Amino acid sequence: MPNDPIIIRTVADLRAHVADWRRDGQTIALVPTMGALHDGHLSLMRLAKGQADRVIASIFVNPAQFGPGEDYERYPRTEAEDVARLATVDVDAAFVPTAREMYPEGFATRVHIERLGDVLCGAHRPGHFDGMALVVVKLLTSALPDVAIFGEKDYQQLQIIRRFTADLNIPVRIMGGPIEREADGLALSSRNRYLSPEQRQIAVALSVALKAARDAVKAGGDPSEASAKAREDIVKAGFDSVDYVEVRDPSSLELVTEAGTPARVFGAARLGPTRLIDNWPVD
Ligand code: PAJ
Repeated sequence: MPNDPIIIRTVADLRAHVADWRRDGQTIALVPTMGALHDGHLSLMRLAKGQADRVIASIFVNPAQFGPGEDYERYPRTEAEDVARLATVDVDAAFVPTAREMYPEGFATRVHIERLGDVLCGAHRPGHFDGMALVVVKLLTSALPDVAIFGEKDYQQLQIIRRFTADLNIPVRIMGGPIEREADGLALSSRNRYLSPEQRQIAVALSVALKAARDAVKAGGDPSEASAKAREDIVKAGFDSVDYVEVRDPSSLELVTEAGTPARVFGAARLGPTRLIDNWPVD
C-alpha cells in the first residue's frame, strides 16, 4: 500500500522538505494543479515518478488566473479526495497553500507574457495567462524542482511556461504530458463535472470537430476552411458559442495558413456556463 502524501501548507515548509531530500542526493519533480484531480492529472504524476526520486503535487485554486465573472468561487475544491488519489500514484508530498500564503498582505508583483499570451485563450480571457504565470513562477522558485510537468491539454499554457522559464532563467526542466481522454474522445477536465448528462453528450463534439479539422489539414486541406467547418459543427452539435478554432504553429503559436507546415488545431467553446478547450496535433 502506498503511503499518504505529506501535506505541506507553507513555502517555508516546502523548502525544508526539498532541502532534506536534496541533502540525501534525491531529485525532485513538481506537478502543479488546481485540484479536483482526474486521470489526466494522475497521468502527469505517473510521468513525474519516472523522472525523479520524489514527486510533489501542488493543489492551489489560483485566484490570480480567474477573471471577473469566471468560476473561481464555484471551482471544485476536493482536498480529501485529491489527497487519496495522490496516494494511489505514490506522490510524496502535496503542497496545498492558502491564498494568503501565496499572496500575502502587501503583494504587488505581476508577470506579463507578450505575444504567446495574446492569442487563443489569451484573447478571450484577459489577464488569465499573466495570473497563471505569476503562480507558476512562484511554485517553481519555491520548490526549485529538477523537472516540472504540465499537460498538453493546456497546450498554450505549456508553451508560455516554457517561454518564461527560459526568459527568467528559472533552472527547471519543463516537460509536457499527452492529453488523457474519455473513451469517446472528450478530454478529461476538472470542469467536465459542471456538465449535465445532456451537456456531456454534446461536449464530445469539440474533440470530434477539432480532430476532423486536424485530419483535413493533414490531408492537405486549407487550415482556415477546416477551422470554419469545425466551428459550424461545434455549434450544430449544441454548443452555445465558439471562442475560437484555429490552426497554429506548435511552438510560436503563429497562425498557419497553409497545409504541410508543422501545426496544431486549437479550440475553445461554451456550453451553458462551462467553457471547454481542446487541441489536436497535425503530425
Ligand atoms: P489544472 O487545470 O488543474 O491542470 C493541472 C495540470 O494538469 C495542467 O498541466 C494541465 O494541462 C494538466 N491536465 C489537465 N487535464 C488534462 C488531461 N486531460 N490530460 C493531461 N493533462 C491534463 O492548469 C492548471 O491547473 C493551472 O493553470 C496551473 C498550471 C496549476 C497553475 O495554476
